[in-house]
Amino acid sequence: MTNKLTPVTPVTPVKIVIEGSVALINIDNPPVNALSQAVRQGLMECVATANSDPNIGTIVIACSGRTFVAGADISEFGKPPLEPHLPDVLNAIEQSPKPVIAALHGTVLGGGFELALSCHYRIALAGTKCGLPEVTLGLIPGAGGTQRLPRLCGIEKALEMITSGKSVVVEDLQAFGVVESVVGENLLGHAIEYGAQFSSQIDRKTPVPTSQIPAPVVTNSQLFDQWRAKLARRARGQLAPQNAIQAIENTTLYCFPEALAKERELFVECRNSSQSAAMRHAFFAERQVAKLDFLKTETQALPIAKVAVIGAGTMGCGIAICFASAGIAVRLLELKAENLQRGLNLIAERYAQSVDSDRIDSQTRDQCLALIQGTCLYEDLADVDLVIEAAFENAEVKRDIFVQLDQVCKPSAILASNTSYLDINAIAEVTARPEKVLGMHFFSPAHIMKLLEVVRAHKTDDQTLLTAMKLGKRIGKIAVPVGVCYGFVGNRMYSAYGAAANQLLLEGATPEQVDQAMEDWGMAMGPFAVADLSGIDIGYKARRENPHRPSDPSFFRPADLLVQQGRLGQKTEAGFYAYPGGKKQPDPEVIQLIIEEARRLKIPQRIIRPGDIQRRLITALIKEGEKILEQGIAVRAADIDVIWLNGYGFPRYRGGPMYFANSSEFDSPALSS
Ligand code: 3HC
Repeated sequence: MTNKLTPVTPVTPVKIVIEGSVALINIDNPPVNALSQAVRQGLMECVATANSDPNIGTIVIACSGRTFVAGADISEFGKPPLEPHLPDVLNAIEQSPKPVIAALHGTVLGGGFELALSCHYRIALAGTKCGLPEVTLGLIPGAGGTQRLPRLCGIEKALEMITSGKSVVVEDLQAFGVVESVVGENLLGHAIEYGAQFSSQIDRKTPVPTSQIPAPVVTNSQLFDQWRAKLARRARGQLAPQNAIQAIENTTLYCFPEALAKERELFVECRNSSQSAAMRHAFFAERQVAKLDFLKTETQALPIAKVAVIGAGTMGCGIAICFASAGIAVRLLELKAENLQRGLNLIAERYAQSVDSDRIDSQTRDQCLALIQGTCLYEDLADVDLVIEAAFENAEVKRDIFVQLDQVCKPSAILASNTSYLDINAIAEVTARPEKVLGMHFFSPAHIMKLLEVVRAHKTDDQTLLTAMKLGKRIGKIAVPVGVCYGFVGNRMYSAYGAAANQLLLEGATPEQVDQAMEDWGMAMGPFAVADLSGIDIGYKARRENPHRPSDPSFFRPADLLVQQGRLGQKTEAGFYAYPGGKKQPDPEVIQLIIEEARRLKIPQRIIRPGDIQRRLITALIKEGEKILEQGIAVRAADIDVIWLNGYGFPRYRGGPMYFANSSEFDSPALSS
């Protein structure tokens, strides 16, 4: 029975409620109960209040809303730090003479998980996720996470969780003894009951703080160096994962207070780094991208229950998987029965792989497969709410498809094209509903890549755009609104980047030098390795169809020459590189071909330094991005960053091309890292 409600200050997001001998400290700081200064202050005061009340035996810390604390307040980073600091608050909780129990639900992340670790016991609702995602923000846990977690679950598990930033379900953590109890319902009731048992013990013992649990002993003397080497490869160029390993190793080298002080130093170094600033920009940009402030405020999205996908090729099948995996019914249309069957088999194979790799269970696979129905008849699409055409990339083919769709689909249905380059305005014009036509440009492999460009054509109405954006989020994509132009935002910029890379070959750089320079700079892959992987003929065809293709004879000349010689990339075992036995290696024939072409075009060759290669390519990217912004093809500079971070392997720790353009590093004489 609640008998007292004492707000600490009138505006505090933290309140204390007394339940018999248990003090329930509740945090209510929507949307995710982040540990803002007011929350830290409130926690400090409430714990002190509970400890000073002789009638209180135990303290429970819980949260209102959808989640327990999901971390420090990221918006406070980059501003002068305000007291009380989180490590001090957590130390005060841990030093409480009365047992403190954390009642966990939702996503217990970062500082939120550190708060839970500083409590003496943890009780969680089934399915709760816990994690220390700081590295994804260029940080390390800065409030004891690197010290308390290893004491509870061992060094290896802590290394895995902290350096990957990935969350773990509490059921897994319970097996490590990090969580005392997992309950199916009535979390607060269970937590209070758990606390009451301590209150009723007459000779109550002071609880053992996690910091006083002995640090784990490491028998493998190479362990930390092995992790350093692994992370140097996996998180190339990044400071935070290396600092995280150091902080965890310190658990074994120093006593708790010393290791905690060193954790703070390593945290502050990360927090003040340009890498963390860039990754925090990426975090907020990915959330801002869904905000369509330019739409009329009364716009409501249409409900989407059933979709159709046209074309059962690799792309169409990947798109069908995205919808089915989100619980949305899909009709997959392919005119020839044998092609349809091939597509359905491919989908079944992909789901089987997901089961084999434990990403889903067989029941989920069966439910998803049951949602996908193949058909060879357009009439079967009469009742769908939205169609995505993923047919052959040819303007005429697409226009024919849209004429048919317009005839069979109900008037309210949205018609979307997955085209990468073609003019959606022209496609919309063949229908009687151009306001309901737009592009939904998925990236390959569609069931894996997070990026979705939602292309607004001239006549697309607000409701259609909003519906597609919301649908993108529902299927787990990061949907970015863009306008119509050749290649939209991502591919148009990639074309400028590729053109600059090809030009560098004519000026004397080798494909290997260019790729190496860009990988060293942080790109996931160099441009020529990408071209060989995806097929050099794809860009070649797209350039042929581009009405605005420059007349400059050197434009993409090396790539075009290779295609004309049948060197299409990995699929023909020859492209910018040779692939004897499937292994990539530089090919002197390609270098010779380029030298001769440069001579023919009268382009002098020279030695080009890695820093110059990086500067040329990144500048080309930024310039095209600026044009795109000027022309209103992208709404915000940050939207371009989101596209490049999620679709083109741009290093997250550099924030995206437009963010990087405004950073001091872009001004530095050498871009090389
Ligand atoms: N600080 C400030 N704002 C935050 C936040 C945080 N830690 N986490 C989320 N938000 C905001 C988002 O910006 C968004 O705001 P908006 O509505 O104005 O756009 C709102 O909360 C909702 O967030 P999402 O749209 O992401 O909601 P989801 O339900 O999709 O996801 C989530 C919820 C899983 C909690 C996700 O928001 C998330 O991963 N948050 C970040 C968690 C994190 O990285 N925590 C570690 C922080 S660093 C730290 O704790 C350092 C410590 O060691 C000292």
